[in-house]
Amino acid sequence: MKIAILGGTGSIGEGFALRWADKHDIKICSREVYKAVKAVDEYKKMLSEKRLYCCGMGGCMNEAGIRDADVVVLSVPYDGVKALLKNLLPYFNEQIVISLVVPMKKNDWYEYTPPKQGSAALEIQEILPKSVKVVSAYHNVSAKKLARLELRLDYDVVVCGDDADAKGTVMKLTKDIKTLHPLDGGGLASSYMIESLTPFLLNLAIRNGFSDLGVKFV
Ligand SMILES: NC(=O)c1ccc[n+]([C@@H]2O[C@H](COP(=O)([O-])OP(=O)(O)OC[C@H]3O[C@@H](n4cnc5c(N)ncnc54)[C@H](OP(=O)(O)O)[C@@H]3O)[C@@H](O)[C@H]2O)c1
Repeated sequence: MKIAILGGTGSIGEGFALRWADKHDIKICSREVYKAVKAVDEYKKMLSEKRLYCCGMGGCMNEAGIRDADVVVLSVPYDGVKALLKNLLPYFNEQIVISLVVPMKKNDWYEYTPPKQGSAALEIQEILPKSVKVVSAYHNVSAKKLARLELRLDYDVVVCGDDADAKGTVMKLTKDIKTLHPLDGGGLASSYMIESLTPFLLNLAIRNGFSDLGVKFV
């Protein structure tokens, strides 16, 4: 599958690139091509040092990555996502877009700050063409742990989306990352519940002396 990771130069993009590299054709996408190329060099070096197979990985501008992708991973901060997508609209057609975007702010504690649509995922679906299928997932996966390939994550990943085939594809992609377990979380309207868990987990970690908490339902 051709996967374009927007914001693939950042914290959580790195983990996806490294964990999917053995099965998928990955494009690390950026607003600046030199950043994408630099990240690809680093990721390929990490994979090669661990003697891990890489199907294909390249770096490009966000525009080029979206145009050729089956799946676009939106791993950019909430504050920039609306303006970014509006600029990139002409490049979308029928891709699956995975939103792991969490709108939140920190005062004393982290707080979920959804837009008027109810969640980042619903806002993103409203911005994108109707032919694009938005699926919401991975909000509660720690970037640090995802990038440490030696770690067994053993997390559940709740996947929300209105298109059954697109949701099925994202659940399959989740299984491609060994030890992540996808769970069907219902339609995109349910995304707010799983987005809001992220600030809750961050507060829980601070209050109880943990770091990089994940979710497992038992
Ligand atoms: N970090 C985590 O543990 C974690 C866990 C679950 C979900 N998430 C969600 O994943 C998303 C990415 O998080 P992150 O921690 O990886 O973020 P990040 O490292 O701060 O940023 C990721 C990339 O986004 C691009 N970017 C930054 N500001 C931007 C803007 N204003 N407009 C457009 N692009 C911008 C940058 O790429 P270029 O400069 O190369 O374009 C940057 O490298 C967030 O929405 C977050 O809520 C994060």
